[in-house]
Amino acid sequence: MTIGVYPGSFDPFTVGHLDVLANAADLFDVVYVAVLHNSQKQPTFTKEERVQMIENVIRTEGLSNVRCGTFDGLLVNYAKAVGATHIVRGLRATSDFEYEFQIDAVNRHLSQELRTVYFMASPAHSFLSSSNVKEIGAWGGSIQGLVPQVNEDIISERLTRK
Ligand code: PNS
Repeated sequence: MTIGVYPGSFDPFTVGHLDVLANAADLFDVVYVAVLHNSQKQPTFTKEERVQMIENVIRTEGLSNVRCGTFDGLLVNYAKAVGATHIVRGLRATSDFEYEFQIDAVNRHLSQELRTVYFMASPAHSFLSSSNVKEIGAWGGSIQGLVPQVNEDIISERLTRK
């Protein structure tokens, strides 16, 4: 069985993330979305909120082979615990490459078995990031079409309240 782990902060999960996840769900038998819980960082959405929003997406998109969990510490340990064969990441532009290259190098050093596969973002999402969503929302701009519709109100309300 092929098992992929799609890790990230997902603060919040965007339609760009969904694009990558849908591709991964086609490729692997099972995909775990792994939400990073970093106690050193203060995310906008708690880990419980981020998991809930991803579960909303899994349900509404009918992604029956996708599960969602949280992890702290090293990704390779989480991947090993769920029996993953591959890590999944998305690439938007060449500017992502350096960052992803470094993450891959560290993960390869830590685990000889795990390999990472990358999905190119569709051009419509090449500018999209969780940070952009937060900035647009905080200034009262519309985040429609940038985050999955099922989570639009929850995210919008939180960002404008801040
Ligand atoms: O999309 P993001 O939020 O930049 O994801 C970064 C993530 C979660 C993939 C990375 O920070 C990570 O794997 N953190 C866990 C700690 C770890 O395993 N570090 C070694 C690889 S850098």
